[in-house]
Amino acid sequence: MPKLVWLNGQVMPLESAVTSVADHAHLYGDGLFEGIRIYNSRVWKLDEHLVRLYHGIRFLGFEMSIGIGELRATLLDVCKQAQISDGYIRLNVSRGTGLGLDPKGIDRTPNVMIMVSTLALYPPEAYEQGLSVVTSSIRVISSDALDPRLKCIGRYGANILAKQEANRMGAGEALMLNAQGQLAECTGDNIFLISNKVIRTPHGSCGILKGITRDTVIEIAEEAGYKVEETFLSLFDVFAADEAFLTGTAAEVIPMINLDAKNIGDGKPGAVTKDLMARFRHQTATTGVAF
Ligand SMILES: Cc1ncc(COP(=O)(O)O)c(C=O)c1O
Repeated sequence: MPKLVWLNGQVMPLESAVTSVADHAHLYGDGLFEGIRIYNSRVWKLDEHLVRLYHGIRFLGFEMSIGIGELRATLLDVCKQAQISDGYIRLNVSRGTGLGLDPKGIDRTPNVMIMVSTLALYPPEAYEQGLSVVTSSIRVISSDALDPRLKCIGRYGANILAKQEANRMGAGEALMLNAQGQLAECTGDNIFLISNKVIRTPHGSCGILKGITRDTVIEIAEEAGYKVEETFLSLFDVFAADEAFLTGTAAEVIPMINLDAKNIGDGKPGAVTKDLMARFRHQTATTGVAF
């Protein structure tokens, strides 16, 4: 599938899209990103992603010259040019270019990149059979160091280490706890547990990225009549649960069937998970911003 990139005002093939090696995201992780899905030639939750990005831009004090409306129109235009009806958009913004940590000393013209491509995070059979997960020894970055709502490139070092642990153990994902030992999230997804048809997920203050898919699934579940609680959960709660699943833009909704080689419930995707997956697929197939 061809990959098309818009970089600082110009559309080009992936191979030609280059920035300076002194880009501040390259040198220090001083950048933000969003991963956004395209379903049926519509960009799903586009405005939610753009709002999260611009909140991060304001928090980090980037001197962004392109406004949210212009970036939105540009992104839709690039999608049209890429002609990918079901795909994945990577939107990156870095602070600027220059050596040295201090933003004062660099060219603070942000590098803005939109890449339209495709992405399958997990193999198709994992959506049918469920995912094996291991508990990572890597904790999420403390929220008093870096606010978890900041989808900052630099924070993903911890998540990549955790993902490598999962790879070494032959698992699909790694579950990260916070410094208090409470459940936080997986490397690129939020976690949900289900007990007696009550759906529970770690509270926003547990050091999680408050995922857009997480918020959507909470809405879908409540509309369907399920009780949903955002709360504080421990590893014990995972094994006391009947079912579990993960959510994320790249992951979508995927059943989690075991943790550290111990089954959750009967070790198969559960009925509530399957119901929510079907409702989620219906929503992604029928909503979004057309291009
Ligand atoms: C660490 C982390 N948690 C959760 C999520 C899920 O967030 P969203 O549903 O907004 O994609 C992501 C996805 O980007 C992530 O990187």
